[in-house]
Amino acid sequence: MTTISQPVAYSPYAYEIHEDPYPVYARMRAEAPVYRNDELDFYALSRHEDVLAAFRNLDGFSNAQGVSLEPSAFGPDAHKFMSFLALDPPRHTRMRSLVGKGFTPSKVAQMEEHIRAIALEHLEPALEQGTFDYIADFAGKLPMDVISELVGVPRADRAEIRRLADTVVHREDGVLDVPPAGMEAAVTLVGYYQQMVDDRRKSRRDDLTSALLDAEIDGDKLSDDEIIAFLFLMVVAGNETTTKLLGNAWYWGWRYPDQGAKPFADHDRVAPWIEETLRYDTSSQMLLRVTRVPMQLHGVEIPEGSRVLLLVGSANRDESVFPDADRYDLDRDTSRLVSFGGGRHFCMGAPLARLEARIGLSELVTRVATYDVDPEGIERVHSINVRGLAALPTTVTRR
Ligand code: HEM
Repeated sequence: MTTISQPVAYSPYAYEIHEDPYPVYARMRAEAPVYRNDELDFYALSRHEDVLAAFRNLDGFSNAQGVSLEPSAFGPDAHKFMSFLALDPPRHTRMRSLVGKGFTPSKVAQMEEHIRAIALEHLEPALEQGTFDYIADFAGKLPMDVISELVGVPRADRAEIRRLADTVVHREDGVLDVPPAGMEAAVTLVGYYQQMVDDRRKSRRDDLTSALLDAEIDGDKLSDDEIIAFLFLMVVAGNETTTKLLGNAWYWGWRYPDQGAKPFADHDRVAPWIEETLRYDTSSQMLLRVTRVPMQLHGVEIPEGSRVLLLVGSANRDESVFPDADRYDLDRDTSRLVSFGGGRHFCMGAPLARLEARIGLSELVTRVATYDVDPEGIERVHSINVRGLAALPTTVTRR
């Protein structure tokens, strides 16, 4: 008897995909490198070479309708909340250059001691308890507090700003779009940032909001709305993604103890732990583009105006670039990972995300001898593009 295998089926809304998308990605790379989903109206590219080429091809692919399939995040207004991530050149070039005047590598490097202080503020009480939720007590708090520190939110307001930011990105299981509570929180957050911009306009401080007000190229400056949209973009792009990176490192280190033990034995291995986690199970699984011209790829015609998903999570598992790609291996070459995108939209916060992860995980490995996770209590986030954990109950033994 012969069995006829079904053609590969992929939907980013499917729970099986949230549990483990990688076997489906492998089939897409092999059988349908230009995958078509008629119902949800998108194409998907899954091979490393194609994903990277699309990131770099700004003439062929547009960001101007946003980078997410979520109905309320898709469309010509996307830039109002996602700033220059949802703009094409020349508007993208102008805004990214202006923001780059304020959000400089040296500004990020200066954050090191502040990040350590924030990490310890959350870690010490958690470690004191011995058993805690790694996400709720630590990984879910650090990134947003770091963004608040960077942009100038005073300490007293940070917990509330974190609550609002979490509400903006939170999705109940089965809800496919931004819920009303998320919209309300977004409006409150924008109002808070507007007030902060007004205050800094009157009197500058040593923070990113003040630096953005002063950023200037040939007399051109950012408007208040542009500054606020960028502050909001950092919440959307830099908060949950970094939380999930911290969580995924902890989780996979536990699932593969032969690899997870390495940074605990040698603290220099924290950096490879982060890089291999970014490759193996990245928090931002896909980015959307819309084609600006008709294309042909692997024998498939893609009309102009089509929605195309770039499956970063799949590209990172492409065997032609990463041998034995399904193995979590801290000793491998990860230099070609595409977790931060590529080309002109390459993640502006990548150095900050890496710094936060390095500091957070380093502070853990210097204090913790061993850890265990309660598998019963693990909860996965059900989101169409963010991959990671909502709960990760952990017990540690101290050094
Ligand atoms: C592990 C953490 C992170 C991951 C996986 C990640 C991933 C990405 C990716 C894939 C893109 C490109 C999107 C596209 O081409 O459509 C991007 C863009 C961006 N990211 Fe990140 N990101 C992370 C952390 C951060 C942080 C901490 C910040 C800042 C606080 C940040 C700020 C940005 C900004 C501003 C852009 C837009 C760049 C542009 O359009 O020119 N990201 N990020």
